[in-house]
Amino acid sequence: MKPIRKAVFPVAGLGTRMLPAAKTVAKEMLPVVDRPLIAWVLEEARAAGIEHFILVTGRGKTAMEDYFDHQIELELTLKEKGKTELLEQIVSALPKEGEVSYVRQMAPHGLGHAVWCARDVVGEEPFAVLLPDVIVDAEPSCLAQAVKAYEHVGGNIVVVEQVPESETHKYGIVTPKSRNGRLIQMSGMVEKPPQGSAPSNLSVLGRYILQPEIFPILSAQERGAGNEIQLTDAMARLMQQQDFHAYDYEGRSYDCGDRLGWLRANLALSLKRPDLQAAVRSMVAEEMARAG
Ligand code: G1P
Repeated sequence: MKPIRKAVFPVAGLGTRMLPAAKTVAKEMLPVVDRPLIAWVLEEARAAGIEHFILVTGRGKTAMEDYFDHQIELELTLKEKGKTELLEQIVSALPKEGEVSYVRQMAPHGLGHAVWCARDVVGEEPFAVLLPDVIVDAEPSCLAQAVKAYEHVGGNIVVVEQVPESETHKYGIVTPKSRNGRLIQMSGMVEKPPQGSAPSNLSVLGRYILQPEIFPILSAQERGAGNEIQLTDAMARLMQQQDFHAYDYEGRSYDCGDRLGWLRANLALSLKRPDLQAAVRSMVAEEMARAG
């Protein structure tokens, strides 16, 4: 079984749910507590043993390339001012040279198209996909749980979580066949089923482990929901050729591509930080009292 060494991050999305903030700031660069969204998701991948990070970017997204590089002026200033701890924190979080690749998705044809743009960098090996809108608070990291499941059953894995029935039309939804602990055998998958027609309430979270055979399927560039090239449709086809499991992970997710989800992530994750929690608690209590 080949190990999962590479991960694809589709970061070309326009971020329309986060407008107007996302008009000039890439939505993946919006801060959650004290670091950009993309840094949280990259950390999750690193904690799962990923060695090569492939960002599928688009126009207006160059801030991410700068973020994952040295900022010499800043580093020199921090050094001069003796802020060594902060300097160490910033430098140690950087990926090593050659660990990050950037591929450009030149037109917004959908998630399946974004993943397909990374085909040459991924090559002939299984790989992970992490959607950067979602922060998952989990221990071990969500992707690490998926990798462990993959090491057990091989093939392809799609991480799922339960959502209320009223929400199923917003996600990819799987059709479960049988369940063994957290692993679920599936018979199908559908992207954003119209309300009332979802095959289950198990939604695709945005963490995948895929075999490279997904690429020839994506090459056909067939369009699905929203007239976009959907990863979900390609996965449903791959399922007819290869093993495919859903994995019901343990943890909590925050959809930071949505303003309420983003606010909640800031609140929940700062309440977990020992250096911030007491201050955040009293701040929230004060604001609640003030708002009446
Ligand atoms: C994408 C996927 C969908 C998945 C969702 C998770 O949709 O196409 O299957 O459930 O992410 O956030 P999007 O949110 O990009 O429309």
